[in-house]
Amino acid sequence: MKVISATSELEVAVSFFKELGLTVGLVPTMGALHNGHASLVKKCVAENDVCIVSVFVNPTQFNNANDLATYPRTLEADCKLLESLGANIAFAPTVDQIYPYPDTRQFDFTPLDKVMEGPMRPGHFNGVAQVVSRLFDITKPNRAYFGEKDFQQLAIIREMCRKYGYNDLEIVGCPIVREESGLALSSRNARLSDSQKKTAVGISKALFDSKNIKNSKNVAETKQWVIDTINAIDGMEVEYYEIVDGNTLQPISDWKETSYPVGCITVYLGDVRLIDNIKY
Ligand code: PAF
Repeated sequence: MKVISATSELEVAVSFFKELGLTVGLVPTMGALHNGHASLVKKCVAENDVCIVSVFVNPTQFNNANDLATYPRTLEADCKLLESLGANIAFAPTVDQIYPYPDTRQFDFTPLDKVMEGPMRPGHFNGVAQVVSRLFDITKPNRAYFGEKDFQQLAIIREMCRKYGYNDLEIVGCPIVREESGLALSSRNARLSDSQKKTAVGISKALFDSKNIKNSKNVAETKQWVIDTINAIDGMEVEYYEIVDGNTLQPISDWKETSYPVGCITVYLGDVRLIDNIKY
């Protein structure tokens, strides 16, 4: 596996692959890789001639300086894992390589970005679109792989492709990978103590249990039950829990409104912000 940090070097490599008629798969990441990322990389390796994994903590998608400063950075371990998974290129650029000049582009994903993470993290999805479009421009992938844990992000990236001209590229959504306990894998879990990790299991447990009560409760009652159940656990505070149409991301008030209801949650455990979701 080759580790590349210069955009121009990667562009040369990509045009060589394209001349040879090879298919290119991209897995965009911010590093601190775990088994969730590994599942994306394995799929990318299996489905493409060349697998490129980007490892870049993108400053433009952080609306909280402390979150950016404390985001785990483990490039050496990440590269070892990527090599063992059969990735061909790890692209680990500096900020200047991705943004040689400030990126002032404004994307509009209305109404997808006006709910849930949108109002809670102003500018976040614009920053994600800036970096992902930049990575697409550099790597010209045939396929790009994203986890369903970031459910809203995945919907917005699909919309970005539709609306901003990335039509030749297939976005592949991959299921959430969980620990045996049910806890959704996340790079942020690295910031949890052992006892916080046990507490965090309460999030997925409440989501799974809520599937069983869905038949006897309406949407508002189910939402409230999840919020109350998690808030009752010492140390956890729900930021939001929304049950939405999985395609439009708009909140529903009746189960009959959609055949694809998805519950999306954000919870603070201490200062660590955890997200998860469940398909009802
Ligand atoms: O999901 C992530 O890790 C990031 O938002 C992404 C897609 C790599 C863009 O920085």
